[in-house]
Amino acid sequence: MKRPILIHPDPRLKKLASPIIDLSDDLRALADDMLETMYAAPGIGLAAPQIGVDTRLIVMDCVKGEGETPRPLAMFNPEILAESDERSIYEEGCLSIPDIYADVERPAEVTVRWIDPNGAEKQETFDGLWATCLQHEIDHLDGVLFIDYLTPLRRQLITRKMVKLKKDRAREKA
Ligand code: NI
Repeated sequence: MKRPILIHPDPRLKKLASPIIDLSDDLRALADDMLETMYAAPGIGLAAPQIGVDTRLIVMDCVKGEGETPRPLAMFNPEILAESDERSIYEEGCLSIPDIYADVERPAEVTVRWIDPNGAEKQETFDGLWATCLQHEIDHLDGVLFIDYLTPLRRQLITRKMVKLKKDRAREKA
């Protein structure tokens, strides 16, 4: 089932999300909903707080090429264990901040540990777009948005735009 995505500014996007203690069928179903919501958007990553759920769960699929096999990943309690000194810059966007893009510099490589939907502990080192996307999504679990890396002025302008967007959308619905 597709879920509505929260738009910045929203207090639920600024909270530290709660860790998962028990991997239940409800949480597995939530991961499926999040993947469906992400693919439909379309997007390459989504974190539970973005659909208003206070839990440390992210989903991703950075395989973009046509004809390439998708790699849907659902990560429960993802944690960055190590990051490279080497940095890379990507133009980032966010489903909670529609149509806004900005360059963000982050470590080029990250080693991440997580629990998969079967309850198995996984660990893998990611680079390229995957590394950036992972850090962006894990940031969401800590109440951090990519615009938090921009200057306060730029962030303010974007936030103002989003306030207006939300007003316009509310009016359309009314
Ligand atoms: Ni995002």
